Amino acid sequence: MAPLWILTVLLVLPQTSLAAYCHGSPSKNAKQNLNPIYTDAPRFVRSVVNGKLYTVGTGEDAFDIVHVWGKPYDWGKAQGQLLGEKAVKMMDAVWEYLEDQVIEAINGTVHIFKPWFLKDIADFGLERALDLELSITKKYSGSYFYEEAQGISDGSGLDVQKLLRIHMIGELTKGSCSMFGAWGSSVPDKGSLLQLRALDWSVDGPFKDYPQVTVYHPSDPKDGHPFANFGWTGWFGSITGMSSQKMAISEIGVSFPDSTFGTESRFGTPFTFLLRDVLQFDKTLDDAINRIANARRTCDLILGVGDAKLGQFRGIEYSASVADFFDDINMRPAEDWHPKIPNVVYWGMDWNCPAFNEVLGKQLTKHHGNITVENTIRDVVSIVQTGNLQVAVYDLTKNVAYLSNAKASYESGPQYAYERQYVRLNMTELFTEIPPEHRENNSNH
Ligand SMILES: *[C@@H]1O[C@H](CO)[C@@H](O)[C@H](O)[C@H]1NC(C)=O
Ligand SMILES: *[C@@H]1O[C@H](CO)[C@@H](O)[C@H](O)[C@H]1NC(C)=O
Ligand SMILES: *[C@@H]1O[C@H](CO)[C@@H](O)[C@H](O)[C@H]1NC(C)=O
Ligand SMILES: *[C@@H]1O[C@H](CO)[C@@H](O)[C@H](O)[C@H]1NC(C)=O
Repeated sequence: MAPLWILTVLLVLPQTSLAAYCHGSPSKNAKQNLNPIYTDAPRFVRSVVNGKLYTVGTGEDAFDIVHVWGKPYDWGKAQGQLLGEKAVKMMDAVWEYLEDQVIEAINGTVHIFKPWFLKDIADFGLERALDLELSITKKYSGSYFYEEAQGISDGSGLDVQKLLRIHMIGELTKGSCSMFGAWGSSVPDKGSLLQLRALDWSVDGPFKDYPQVTVYHPSDPKDGHPFANFGWTGWFGSITGMSSQKMAISEIGVSFPDSTFGTESRFGTPFTFLLRDVLQFDKTLDDAINRIANARRTCDLILGVGDAKLGQFRGIEYSASVADFFDDINMRPAEDWHPKIPNVVYWGMDWNCPAFNEVLGKQLTKHHGNITVENTIRDVVSIVQTGNLQVAVYDLTKNVAYLSNAKASYESGPQYAYERQYVRLNMTELFTEIPPEHRENNSNH
């Protein structure tokens, strides 16, 4: 860690005036993604009392699928037992990465952290700054998150406090991402719903080395219904995922809001937990809308929730003070670089972000009436150059998801998820996976 005085000095310097619009734009030479989609079934690796481990994808592109059963503690314990050393390595690597990023934030080369968090680090150090964040969000977080964390720790030997601290990073760092929902006249099969989640985040960090899909099979309906979290080893917050209710989530971190966002707050539910609650508990789009409207919200985001049972998608302008729900008619921002498209809701990279929104809107218009998984992968996401770390395309009606991850440090080929091969996941099959034999029924925790 750097001497604290450096941070303190930095924090009292006047802020350089923030541009009101995001920088950057997709390259004019962006290439289509012509990789075939990987469609083979996952391969069984091993099982424990409440869990099963599979791998899917070819060679070095393979990633883990972890199924867990039982109660929240059991979910964690099974994952910890199945992944063990790998979970410890992942979380150690994330911790080291966070420390490095803090040091680099000091000389201004890194801008991933929120300013108030840097101030906390200056005042208290990284560990205690994260502990402070945990203590002020705990009462707005389901106790099952803490139970699952304890299970992971008991199953893998990972320090539970480290695991919990790392789960606060969603609130403290900035990402920029893209999403759309497309239905009705925009898709070839009029009754169907297609949804995109493209994650643009740190491809220099350790996440790319540990992609994982975790499929939860709660034994008690009080703990929710089956759902899948698309993330990384040991990561139980949600930013990407799909549930057995044919619902899915998308999320964009907003660094360039307009005045309609109002204020942010630190006192509320971490959004990665809120999104997981949507996957885990909400049976309909209305449930999700109510949850989001009534939550103690925190930072500026755009969220997306789709429900194929209704064939509907909503985008949500989200901050501590605002929760506004958008369809294709009332979508904002209402700017000429973000034109309305019938039966499509979309955002590229950020809220005030003309260059990316323009290209995304253009590609969606080009394929309007024929927005399909294949066209999205080949000619939308790849041309907008969004989703550097992870891309999920959810065919909610067919109950199939397509997932791509950035090049891991041990892999070859193109770097970004939007340039790489997608793996098809038959969610019907994942949600009806048969539990391992001799499964323990009750949590002993
Ligand atoms: C500051 O940034 C440079 C890169 O511009 C980097 O090489 C250097 O290590 C950084 N300094 C610290 C203290 O991290
Ligand atoms: C829809 O897109 C596919 C390519 O994915 C193309 O083969 C097909 O001809 C298109 N259909 C229409 C009606 O444009
Ligand atoms: C997914 O799996 C189910 C059950 O095996 C099967 O009926 C369905 O056709 C599969 N869906 C796709 C799109 O392959
Ligand atoms: C779980 O427990 C219930 C009641 O004790 C029993 O009927 C059921 O068969 C058990 N299920 C499994 C998978 O062990």
